[in-house]
Amino acid sequence: MAHAPLLAAPAFTPLAQEARAGLAGGGQKSLPCKYLYDEAGTLLFEAICALPEYGLSHADQRLLQAHAAEIAAGCGPRTAVVELGSGSARKTRPLLEALAARQATVYIPIEISPQAIEHSRRGLEGITGLQFRPLEAEYREGLAAVAELRRAGRLGAERLLVLFLGSTLGNFAPPQATEFLRSLRRDLRPGDRMLLGVDLAKPARQLRLAYDDPAGVTAAFNLNLLARLNREMGTDFNLRQWRHQVKCDRRGRWVEMHLRARRAQTVRVPGLPRPVSFRRGETIWTESSHKFARKAIAPLLAGAGFRPLRQWADTLWPFAETLAQAE
Ligand code: AVJ
Repeated sequence: MAHAPLLAAPAFTPLAQEARAGLAGGGQKSLPCKYLYDEAGTLLFEAICALPEYGLSHADQRLLQAHAAEIAAGCGPRTAVVELGSGSARKTRPLLEALAARQATVYIPIEISPQAIEHSRRGLEGITGLQFRPLEAEYREGLAAVAELRRAGRLGAERLLVLFLGSTLGNFAPPQATEFLRSLRRDLRPGDRMLLGVDLAKPARQLRLAYDDPAGVTAAFNLNLLARLNREMGTDFNLRQWRHQVKCDRRGRWVEMHLRARRAQTVRVPGLPRPVSFRRGETIWTESSHKFARKAIAPLLAGAGFRPLRQWADTLWPFAETLAQAE
């Protein structure tokens, strides 16, 4: 299915309800970043990952390639791999190859984007011994469903290796990040593992370029969110009247993406009693990406019930991969 069906009461989908909540009211307007990934958004994000300025995904990929054999060797027999947000699964491939070469491996990407599931299915073709069992779900609901399958003996695996790569954890501010990891831990058993890839703090200049690339790919990715609302819930955002804006902490610990009104305007939002007005220069906050201190990752995991086992950092782009075990 390429698009959400427009005939099915578009004003009452979860997207429409959350968009209304974020756009109504007088304070900072916002939209949930998970909605950046429709079909076009998924492709634009893959294009971002190919940009030299977005060093994050290249570092993640280098580390996974370099340490796949070691990570796979540390997995017990009958391990299923669960990935939270697989995207194209391009960087996961070496790890799955290493694992599937040792044992029959179930791979469960948990994704809210059916397009991303299709990309990962294609990206992983031809790995013998790999069973692809995708789940179209949000992360927590998806992992809870996997835990339930295991309890019922219907998973075909005893152990889980949860992959949370690409610094998606950075979408949460630190306190919510701990809370989120804790909630994942509740669905795991002692001995299950998690591989966490997070981007580290780096010079603000470098961060800004990564999120505001000169070719404008990230700008298109961000603006597409308004196009998606127009398509799926019938808002009438004029994309020409909005600009991609990046706000960046001077110490390089976080970045925010916003969409900034080029001039004062009103936008029709189906389901709201009156159009939403925006002042010139007013922004809609669409995403946060928090960056971590390398030393803070182990305590973060420990605080959520995981014992860190190994950590690898990239030498070209500050990024770290941490392997931990549920206690
Ligand atoms: C997929 C959430 C990790 O925050 O770096 C890339 C998304 N946004 N460029 C990130 C993103 C702008 C990305 N995550």
